[in-house]
Amino acid sequence: MFFERHEGGERAVLVHPECLDDQQREDPREFQELVRSANVEQVAFVVVTSSKITPRYFVGSGKLEEIRQQVIACEADVVLFNHALFPSQERNLEAELQCRVVDRTGLILDIFAQRARTHEGKLQVELAQLEHVSTRLIRGWTHLERQKGGVGLRGPGETQLETDRRLLRVRIKSIKARLEKVRRQREQTRRSRQRADIPLVSLVGYTNAGKSTLFNTITESDVYAADQLFATLDPTLRRLQISDLGPVILADTVGFIRHLPHKLVQAFRATLEESAMADLLLHVVDCADPERQDNMQQVHHVLKEIKAHEIPQLQVFNKTDLMGMKPRLDRDENNRPCRVWISAQKGEGLDLLQCAIAELLGDDLVHAFLPVPHSLGRLRARLYELGVVHSEKFNDEGLPVLEVRMPKMELQRIILQEGGTLPWDLPDAEPWMKE
Ligand code: GTP
Repeated sequence: MFFERHEGGERAVLVHPECLDDQQREDPREFQELVRSANVEQVAFVVVTSSKITPRYFVGSGKLEEIRQQVIACEADVVLFNHALFPSQERNLEAELQCRVVDRTGLILDIFAQRARTHEGKLQVELAQLEHVSTRLIRGWTHLERQKGGVGLRGPGETQLETDRRLLRVRIKSIKARLEKVRRQREQTRRSRQRADIPLVSLVGYTNAGKSTLFNTITESDVYAADQLFATLDPTLRRLQISDLGPVILADTVGFIRHLPHKLVQAFRATLEESAMADLLLHVVDCADPERQDNMQQVHHVLKEIKAHEIPQLQVFNKTDLMGMKPRLDRDENNRPCRVWISAQKGEGLDLLQCAIAELLGDDLVHAFLPVPHSLGRLRARLYELGVVHSEKFNDEGLPVLEVRMPKMELQRIILQEGGTLPWDLPDAEPWMKE
């Protein structure tokens, strides 16, 4: 990473502006969760109630004094604002408070930086950080000073500031090029997945709803799940076998939060794009959270932004154990599954979830028994590869008969691709499909 990560356990004074209008005001509880997620210790919480926002320090002089007193009394290392600050405001505050000042965007970026796991995720975070920082670069800014002195790093007569700016530009350019390459590779992978036509199921939801926990429990994988915001950053894909359906790809995505700055939405495009391409969205909701309605609204809002709001959705109300509830499946007026109540942590209701997924994705599913002539050995291999073969027997003619469950169109396509002809035309072959 370009930036050195500060050690954990920093002590922070939190500043929460209560004074803004509803559109702009952030949630103080979420702010504290974000701070906890960043591994920072809250030592004081200052609420700004005055409606006067000053261009110089954001807060008025009385509040500034109060923050200064708290910084001294609590021996704080950093002051965190629950609002975006202009670079000049951040600078003025730092000079006045003699302490590092980080705004809401910087805080979220910091959490992203701690959570990024894949190569692409790390690059995206670094790019967003660099772009955030490049507007804040001023004379005397020393973050990059430890970079100086390397061969070719300093041009003759160049000031530290110019070197820093040049380094940033070079770094941003090289990261963009690398990201483009990673994206092209992802596109390839996605295309090969589409060729195989395995349905993509994407977990979406408000941060901390339990997506990673659910992902782990159903795929028995080890994606990092912790009681922290943003436990998931990179699109994490797993193949999963759903009984009565066949294989699906399950994607875990980053949690949504309120007022995610637009440049961060851009930075996490890959994660969000994955959701926008899904065949089914599992909208995970912490049903024990008193803010759940509001959180769901936020998620809908973001889904609309990334044009994923028309994808079929199944609501997954998680953490039923906290409500003392039993798992259950709700259906809409058309008798289609619309909401399933589960406990990801206790592994309760996962069978209902799997049934609902199978039902929602399985509309065009055929359950066929296919005798496969020896000349179509490759067809047999491909069906096995796709994981859609449930059983295999031999018929009286000694031909293998495969029991397959998969989308009808897809089965027809593969049969034709592998050189099968009538009686491989499925609609005409109904009688033997049913056995
Ligand atoms: P982000 O990655 O931040 O979006 O979070 P997430 O939605 O992936 O949430 P995660 O799986 O990290 O879970 C958040 C917290 O909720 C963790 O402390 C989990 O242990 C807890 N949790 C998840 N599922 C359940 C559940 O069914 N019951 C209870 N009681 N806690 C749960």
